[in-house]
Amino acid sequence: MAINAVKGTRDILAPEICNWTKYEEMARKLFRRYGFEEIRTPIFEYTEVFSRGIGEDTDIVHKEMYTFADRKGRSITLRPESTASVVRSYIEHRMDLQARVKRLFYIGPMFRYERPQKGRYRQFYQTGAEVFGSSHPYVDADTIEMVVRLLRDLGLTGLRVDINSVGCRECRPDYRSALQEYLSGHREELCEDCQRRMNNNPLRVLDCKVPGCGEVVKNAPSIQDHLCGGCLEHQHQVLHFLDVLGVTYQLATDLVRGLDYYTRTVFEVISEGLGAQNAILGGGRYDNLVKELGGPDVPAFGWALGMDRLMMVLGDRQLSTPDPTYFVLPIGNELAYAIETSVALKDAGHHAVVLAEASSLKSGLKQISKAGGRFAILAGESERERNILILRDMENSAQREIPVGDLLKEIENEIAE
Ligand code: HAM
Repeated sequence: MAINAVKGTRDILAPEICNWTKYEEMARKLFRRYGFEEIRTPIFEYTEVFSRGIGEDTDIVHKEMYTFADRKGRSITLRPESTASVVRSYIEHRMDLQARVKRLFYIGPMFRYERPQKGRYRQFYQTGAEVFGSSHPYVDADTIEMVVRLLRDLGLTGLRVDINSVGCRECRPDYRSALQEYLSGHREELCEDCQRRMNNNPLRVLDCKVPGCGEVVKNAPSIQDHLCGGCLEHQHQVLHFLDVLGVTYQLATDLVRGLDYYTRTVFEVISEGLGAQNAILGGGRYDNLVKELGGPDVPAFGWALGMDRLMMVLGDRQLSTPDPTYFVLPIGNELAYAIETSVALKDAGHHAVVLAEASSLKSGLKQISKAGGRFAILAGESERERNILILRDMENSAQREIPVGDLLKEIENEIAE
């Protein structure tokens, strides 16, 4: 019996993959313009990196991690996100000593055991950016503007930037108790999970997708009324720099995020067309995480973008047109002539495939049509003797003879057309 991909995972195939690679190329180029370096951390880490980093009371750590014991019995987890991994790496390599402000980005797969649905997978891909070493509100705005620019360069419109503050160690306890007090008056209306969250981590209730909880949350006290002077000023400055940078945003006073490490700024970019899973990206400031994971007291800011969702928003739009592949078809006993031709094409940077397995001209042309090939190059004995090749346009079956010496020039003309 054939075996299928695991539930919640999928193969990304051509032609969809062309948008993925083009997007990655655009993202890498753009991030370098903003002073970011690429980082690749392992796909798995000791479980503690995430349980301490993301927070024991979050859904991710509580029920969504792929955790297993390795052969020596150590607890290992497939990364559900990369911020905690990047922080681990930042600390391990003493990157605080390398630069006052360190800007890092990553692209890669993440793993969460969530219920698969539209826009939600168990293996999904993120692009992320993290800035260490600055608590300046300009860094928040600049890093947000970078991703807004990326989305704009991709031709996406109709996106909304929601921004809020979740306060800091000074003011959050005050908000937490106000929220707890309010929620305890509505205990019966909350789902089972939120009845538990209410005690351990009441801010998580604000993020619950269960409709009943949503109703309760509507009238909950707002964090905006509880921010301390420092957090209010920070928010004010971030919004000011976003204005300076020309980024349009919406203050979303009920926005909290599903991870515990945030302080002050949190934000998300929403695409209404996506349905329930409508956040393309999210992030914020996390000024305590580096220290909490055993490193120096270094503030940080970052975001991660869900590439699967981004590709859904792009839909059928093609980010690039792939160069044509030239199929070189040997006729009769002329495989060597076909190979020589394909080598010359590849040497000049073109895409060329030899159809060594074609048993006849007819079957070869059929294979090329099936593969969606636009051009065939026919290499037979009489062509070799006359030092020519036949270029066939598969769309209209038009054929013409080309002297071997002119092949590259002719092909470049075809591409330019
Ligand atoms: P997050 O909100 O958990 O944040 O994930 C960021 C994005 O990843 C989401 O907005 C969504 O587009 C995508 N995503 C999350 N889960 C799935 C899934 N199961 N299937 C498909 N896409 C998904 C973080 O991961 C933080 N590390 C962001 C961050 C970086 N904060 C500071 N620095």
